[in-house]
Parts: sequence; structure tokens; C-alpha cells
Amino acid sequence: MLTEKEKIDKLTLLGTELNHIQDLDIMMEKILTESRLFVNADAGSIYIMENDRLRFTYTQNDTLQQRLKPGEKLIYSTFSMPVDKKTLAGYVTLTGQPLNLDDVYSIDPASPFQFGRQFDETACYRTQSALTIPLTTPMGKTLGVLQVINARDPDGRAIPFSDRDVMVMMHFAGIASVTLERAQMTRALLLRMIKMAEMRDPKETGAHVNRVGGYAVELYEKWARRRDIPEDEIQKKRDLLRMAAMLHDVGKVGISDTILKKPGKLDEQEYEIMKHHSMMGARLFASSQSDFDDTAAAVALNHHEKWNGSGYPGYIDVTTGEPLPEYRRPDGRASGKAGEDIPVFGRIVALADVFDALSSIRVYKPAWDEAKVLETLEKDAGTHFDPELVEIFLGSLDVMRSIQQRYKDE
Ligand code: C2E
Ligand code: SIN
Ligand code: SIN
Ligand code: FE
Ligand code: FE
Repeated sequence: MLTEKEKIDKLTLLGTELNHIQDLDIMMEKILTESRLFVNADAGSIYIMENDRLRFTYTQNDTLQQRLKPGEKLIYSTFSMPVDKKTLAGYVTLTGQPLNLDDVYSIDPASPFQFGRQFDETACYRTQSALTIPLTTPMGKTLGVLQVINARDPDGRAIPFSDRDVMVMMHFAGIASVTLERAQMTRALLLRMIKMAEMRDPKETGAHVNRVGGYAVELYEKWARRRDIPEDEIQKKRDLLRMAAMLHDVGKVGISDTILKKPGKLDEQEYEIMKHHSMMGARLFASSQSDFDDTAAAVALNHHEKWNGSGYPGYIDVTTGEPLPEYRRPDGRASGKAGEDIPVFGRIVALADVFDALSSIRVYKPAWDEAKVLETLEKDAGTHFDPELVEIFLGSLDVMRSIQQRYKDE
């Protein structure tokens, strides 16, 4: 247990630390860990509203964790429930008032809410005291709840949460709300960026970017499973990649209409200008404030690199466009990245984008039939594309075709 002095010190530190950590998942886990430490709670969860349902998004439980082998992680099937007054989390979301219960197994039967015991029964856990706090933004919108479970006395026995614990948890809920709201605003901003790119370039349609995003996450999942990357990491990267892949050509907003919409082949000089779109896209995310910025920058910058090193822009300084000193070739250009020196998300989007470009009609070309497209992917495996990714692509054709069907051009 922490002393009062340690608590004050920690609280001051957390405020500053939180300003530095930008990633939403890390931040929410940290808020859960720190707040549980403050009120000495065995377990805690954050529920977030998504399309009128409450989703059990983050959870920690010391007792269940101790039953696992070291390093093993708790597996929760993330479930969601309708927002109504029948559950504790729903009740608190709708009323916007904290709820402090000494024993959730002895809630007055006349009360609108009851505790759902399914989780306890599955996990062989006994939830006793529960303190549920609304995540309300400064503007008064409730985004979900923060819930801590089983306060413990110095001997580890479950005891009720105190009024002081309520105050402390309100403070943490405030931090969590602001964090969450900022992440949700960022998401909305990205969706507007995708819309903007779409309005600018008639072929960067919603359908095209959705297809590229869809092929990309499918490729990534199969690639990552082969490497035994942990499931929670795959899920997290999947979401980052989908959005980043949708923005791969966002740098085209900086290309003039005469070139962008030219109804025929680009001449050499026009093509050189067109090639700037990958670097310009990367610049939009160069502030590197989050995992998402880094992913989106890597995808935009690297989606026209080729496996054999003949792609663009190669090793450049994104802010100036100049080759990095050690990569300047005699002709003044940067040497291209090759093989696994091309970040995997760049390799993935390169394949997804070309598959889609070849399969679709363009101002400068007709749509190719599937046999010819697949022949090209096979032929260019090992020169243009990462051969392993081509193999995965060809082995997942059913899924790729269903993505094509789902997002058809109008
Ligand atoms: P995009 O149309 O989305 O095409 C993406 C990539 O698909 C191209 O990258 C290229 O690798 C591949 N691709 C597209 N069409 C063909 C094709 O007919 N044959 C082959 N072998 N590959 C194809 P790339 O070449 O770096 O071009 C980047 C972007 O530049 C294109 O994006 C498009 O917006 C523009 N662009 C390229 N060539 C032309 C052109 O001749 N006319 C016009 N108007 N735009 C072009
Ligand atoms: C809660 O609502 O906070 C716990 C889960 C449930 O009651 O179903
Ligand atoms: C990653 O999964 O982010 C890196 C792996 C790679 O670039 O090969
Ligand atoms: Fe591109
Ligand atoms: Fe594209």
C-alpha cells in the first residue's frame, strides 16, 4: 500500500507523464493501473460507448493475473452491452452519477440495475465492492465508465470503497475522459482527411481506399500470424494499418489538377512531380505525436518502394526531400530502399495499391481482368513486391475477392 506522501508524489508525476504518452491504449492502461493503486483495488475496467453500446475495452485483475504463468496475459473476450439502466455500467453512463456499492451480490432487488454474474462465473471470481464512475467530458458528454472492483484491506480482504476513494476516482475519470475525447476527435479528423483526398482526386474514391485498407489488413494478419505475433498486438496494429492504408495517397492533395486529372499518360517531368506525393503524405504525419502518425507516415512514404530497390523516393530526408548524405547516388538521387529495409506496412500497401489500381479503371488505363492482374503480381514478386506477401495474397484470393465485392465502384 502507498503512503500519503508517495500518493501525492505519484499524482504529480502521473499528470506530467500522461502529457508525454500519446498512445490511447497505453494511456488507458496506465490510468487503470495508477487509479487501482490509489484506492487499492484488486481489479478495474473501462467501458467505452460505441454506437450506442457499451464496450468492455480495458481490464485488469490482480487475482486472475496471479493465477497465470509469469508473462502470460489475461484473455478477455471483449464484450459489449446495450446502454440501459439494468447494468451498473449502463446505469452510471445514463445518470452521469458515480455509484459506490459495498457488495454487488446484495443489491436491493427493487433497484433498476443488477450485477451480471456471468463474468464472475466464467472466471471463478467473486466481485464484491464496485465503484463505477462516469467518464464525462468537460462539455458534459458521457463517453463510458471507469470501474474499480474489490478494495482490499491490508490483509487483502475485500472491503467497501470510501468516500475519499470516490473523490480520487473522479479525478482519474477526468483524465481518462479528456484523453478519450482527444482520441475520438483525432479519429474524426482522419475521416475528414480521407474525405478531402477523395474530393480532390476523382479516383481516390471511398471504395478504392476502403479496398486498399481491407486488402492491407488481411495481408498483415496472415503475415503476423506466421510470425507468432501476439493476438492483441495484431488487433491493435490492424486498426492503425487500416486507417493508414486508407490515407496512403493523401499527399496527392498537393499535386496540381493538370497532372492529377490528366486524361492520358504523364510525360517524364509530370511523373517526377507526381512522385512527390509519397513524401508529401509523410510530411503530414511528421510531427510523430502518436503510433498512428508513425504508421501513416511510414505507409505514405514507402508505398512506392520496390523490393529490388528500384522504387521511390528511397532514403530521403522527408522535410527537405534531399537524399540522406550516405544514400546520395552519383546522379544526385537517393538510393531506393530494398527488401526488408522497406517497412512491412509499406510493402503491404504497395501490393494492395497496385492490385487495386490494375483491377480498376483509371483516366489513363482500362480495368484489367483478374487473370492478367494476378499474372502481373506473380511476375513482379521478388522484383516489385515482397514475394512472401504475394504468396499470402494469392493464398487469400477468396477474402480479397469478397473485399472487392463489398466495396464496388459506383
Ligand atoms: P495509381 O493510379 O493509384 O497507381 C498506383 C500504382 O499502380 C502505380 O504507381 C503503378 O505501380 C501501378 N500501376 C497503375 N497502373 C498501371 C499500369 O497500367 N501498368 C503497370 N505495370 N502498373 C500500373 P506509380 O506508377 O508510381 O504511379 C503513382 C500514381 O501516379 C498513380 O496512382 C497515378 O495517380 C499517377 N500516374 C501514374 N502514371 C500515370 C499516367 O500515365 N497518367 C496519369 N494521369 N496518372 C498517372
Ligand atoms: C457492470 O455492469 O458494471 C458489470 C457487468 C454487468 O453487470 O453485466
Ligand atoms: C513491424 O511489424 O512494424 C516491423 C516489421 C518489419 O518491418 O519487417
Ligand atoms: Fe501512391
Ligand atoms: Fe492509390
